[in-house]
Amino acid sequence: MPTIDRIHAREVLDSRGNPTVEVEAESMGRIVYAIVPSGASTGEHEALELRDRDNRFHGKGVLKAVRNVNEVIAPKLVGEELDSQERLDKIMLELDGTELKTNLGANAILGVSLVIAKLRAGVQGKWIYEVIGNDYTIPVPLLNVINGGKHAGGKLAIQEFMIVPHGFDTFRESLRAGSEIYHSLKSLLKKKYGVSAVNVGDEGGFAPPIDRSADALQMLVSAIEDAGYSPKEQVSLAIDAAASEFFHDAYYHVDDQKMTIEDMVDLYSQLTEEFPLISIEDPFDENDFEAFAKLMRLLGNKIAIVADDLTVTNVNRIKQAMDTNAANYLLLKVNQIGSLTEALNASDLCRQGKWGVVVSHRSGETEDPFIADLAVAIKAERIKTGAPARSERTAKYNQLLRIEEKLGDKAIYQGTLM
Ligand code: PGA
Ligand code: ZN
Repeated sequence: MPTIDRIHAREVLDSRGNPTVEVEAESMGRIVYAIVPSGASTGEHEALELRDRDNRFHGKGVLKAVRNVNEVIAPKLVGEELDSQERLDKIMLELDGTELKTNLGANAILGVSLVIAKLRAGVQGKWIYEVIGNDYTIPVPLLNVINGGKHAGGKLAIQEFMIVPHGFDTFRESLRAGSEIYHSLKSLLKKKYGVSAVNVGDEGGFAPPIDRSADALQMLVSAIEDAGYSPKEQVSLAIDAAASEFFHDAYYHVDDQKMTIEDMVDLYSQLTEEFPLISIEDPFDENDFEAFAKLMRLLGNKIAIVADDLTVTNVNRIKQAMDTNAANYLLLKVNQIGSLTEALNASDLCRQGKWGVVVSHRSGETEDPFIADLAVAIKAERIKTGAPARSERTAKYNQLLRIEEKLGDKAIYQGTLM
């Protein structure tokens, strides 16, 4: 059994130009790298992203996390056999010893956890998805083409307006539709609002001066039609409200209005009636399981109610959401929980509880396509990794193209199962 010969972390930059942790590891002469992503609208229950809070990088340096890898984790793991992800992750979790990884930092632990999966693949001459899972499917992409909330500077409170090209036989055809619609949308926005409307936000979607959520969704429907596709049959819509970000003083501040939970439920059900909306993520504040459950009772048998900040890829919070019937889909982000093993446990729990899974990027991403392999390996129904533009986003979509090609006749596209 090959062993881990070397682990070394360094500070590199993410897609927003902020520092993040990269881990390099070596076994039998093979060298692999993993880079950790970072959110902006982070959930308050996420594992700790350790930042230096000193004068470098406006306090965002990650040299403490880097040191924790090089001086605390590496000495424990170098020389260990690459036999099991779970065993190696467990060594790190015990080394940290806290619920939210406040000793070593989730960014330190996750970097090593991901690089271990890559090393296990590397020494066996396998692809990453092959060492994580046993059988595979290709997820449907949720492409974020209009950015609002914290990811853009506009008036839209809802953070993400996404197109979901599912009515195709393959991922490749879906991605092509996604790209064509993105460019149709660009032309429409330019015509209506001028060239500055097609500046892009953090996830590569446009950031136009649209005020109302319904107008943003209408633009998407027009773009789908302009590109020659049929809304609903081939391409549906999804939103991530990221509602904790606009919940202040007991009200939701959205579409230039001050809304109660009941108002928000009405808004969501109206949008679902008016548009081919198949997925609503984080519709309410991250602690309000009850409000989520209210929406579930109304729409849960028709569309995906996705928990992100509510559940933060943490099995305890997912259990709570299952017990209260607060959602029917998990947004799975590896850095919310901080190790691959725990993310896989979250996915397993979803399968037991008959929830769907959307594997997700962060708004601060990197060139590392790891989550594409992860989504294939856990047979995630969907993947959310930004617009079909900007290399930190397309890195994931392009990896899915490679995997679909590699699987050939055996590739099962989730769009065909919907
Ligand atoms: P974040 O946004 O990475 O900034 O948290 C993504 C999301 O809310 O899904
Ligand atoms: Zn979200």
